[in-house]
Amino acid sequence: MTKRERSKPSQTATITTRIMMPMDANIAGNVFGGTIMKLIDEVAAMSAHKHARMNVVTASIGRMEFHSPVFVGDFLKLTATVNYVHNASMEIGVRVEAENPTTGRMRHTGTCYLTFVGLNKNGQPQRLPNLIPTSTDEKRRWREAKARRLQRIAQITMEDNH
Ligand SMILES: CC(C)(COP(=O)(O)OP(=O)(O)OC[C@H]1O[C@@H](n2cnc3c(N)ncnc32)[C@H](O)[C@@H]1OP(=O)(O)O)[C@@H](O)C(=O)NCCC(=O)NCCS
Repeated sequence: MTKRERSKPSQTATITTRIMMPMDANIAGNVFGGTIMKLIDEVAAMSAHKHARMNVVTASIGRMEFHSPVFVGDFLKLTATVNYVHNASMEIGVRVEAENPTTGRMRHTGTCYLTFVGLNKNGQPQRLPNLIPTSTDEKRRWREAKARRLQRIAQITMEDNH
């Protein structure tokens, strides 16, 4: 696909599904949080790339809570979308769900927000294409992501002044 000037959040949507294997888990069969975090970073990077069409790096990963355990044999589904673009930075939201392979029951196990930064060929931050939120949900996610960015910056400023 060619570079574009802008995208809709829906054009950045990326879904991956992986079966959880014994090597992903502890001896009780619970999948490691770190295994899930790696998959989150990967799917977020793909979504960020779809929007940026340039090299991108993870700048920060927001707070992550695991609401319910994931077990060996579960199908782990990760859905990533670009929520918000500032200048060189963008927020990607990743929703994590686990499907029980026998019952088909889906559990929402967590959501994570990551900031990625687009880089030019010299490895310097580069302005990103615009993101155009269209649906009510996309506009809400944009507003919430913008608020999270401001909150993160306020937190850093507060810590620097201590
Ligand atoms: C992310 C990185 C490129 C930022 O470089 P920098 O020179 O500090 O960039 P600037 O201060 O000019 O900021 C550029 C943008 O990045 C954002 N940014 C920088 N550090 C950030 C952080 N920790 N979290 C979120 N956003 C950040 C800025 O807010 C700015 O966004 P904007 O252009 O939309 O306003 C640089 O810190 C880096 O390369 N980090 C390592 C990334 C990496 O290797 N990740 C893989 C995991 S280790």
